[in-house]
Amino acid sequence: MSTIKHENVTCKGGTVLLHTNAGIVHGVKPAESWAGYLYWLLQVPPFKPNRMLMLGYGLGTVAELTRKIWGNDVACLGIDVEVLETYPQDTVVREDAFYWIKDGKAFDKFDYIVVDLFKGRNVEPRVFTDEFLGNLKSNLSPEGLVSIHFIGAELMNQENKELIEKYFKVDRIKTVDTSWVIFLKHSENKAEYSIN
Ligand SMILES: C[S@@+](CC[C@H](N)C(=O)[O-])C[C@H]1O[C@@H](n2cnc3c(N)ncnc32)[C@H](O)[C@@H]1O
Repeated sequence: MSTIKHENVTCKGGTVLLHTNAGIVHGVKPAESWAGYLYWLLQVPPFKPNRMLMLGYGLGTVAELTRKIWGNDVACLGIDVEVLETYPQDTVVREDAFYWIKDGKAFDKFDYIVVDLFKGRNVEPRVFTDEFLGNLKSNLSPEGLVSIHFIGAELMNQENKELIEKYFKVDRIKTVDTSWVIFLKHSENKAEYSIN
């Protein structure tokens, strides 16, 4: 596994730059208001994924950014009720992610799972439930990593923290603007807990 790690995201002259311990590896120049969209960069995995799952595929942005950073051979399985565009490397299933992830739907485990399930500005409330977190855990490979994107610090309340910690260990938390991306590992794995 590579040792490249995300360190920071900055903006210079309208271009968003993703910094790693290997230097700046990617810059994007969104056409309009970038501030609310930086979370896409935060969801790029800190390693090259073998099997990537994205619950909430949308435009496939995170999968495409992952390829820009880790190579074109990365393929993603996307699940979304309302797919807007797909990239050729990706397989996309048009289904409710909460039904799809139930036991028995996925036959192989994933080493990187992106959870980006939104209705407008609101995260799907079913994300913070025992059923969904338990299903996520059973689809994650032993060394795998989950990232969950949500908006609003109030969702990191004690109740949700305790719920998450029943299933996972918090590895790191990244915030940008009002977006939070929380990274989770299996409880027995070593965590690198940090907030920035
Ligand atoms: C913020 S967008 C995802 C952006 C995407 N990750 C990307 O990289 O472009 C949120 C997505 O969640 C999807 N979504 C919301 N509820 C869902 C559900 N129950 N099952 C599957 N997809 C859902 C929406 O259709 C929308 O495309």
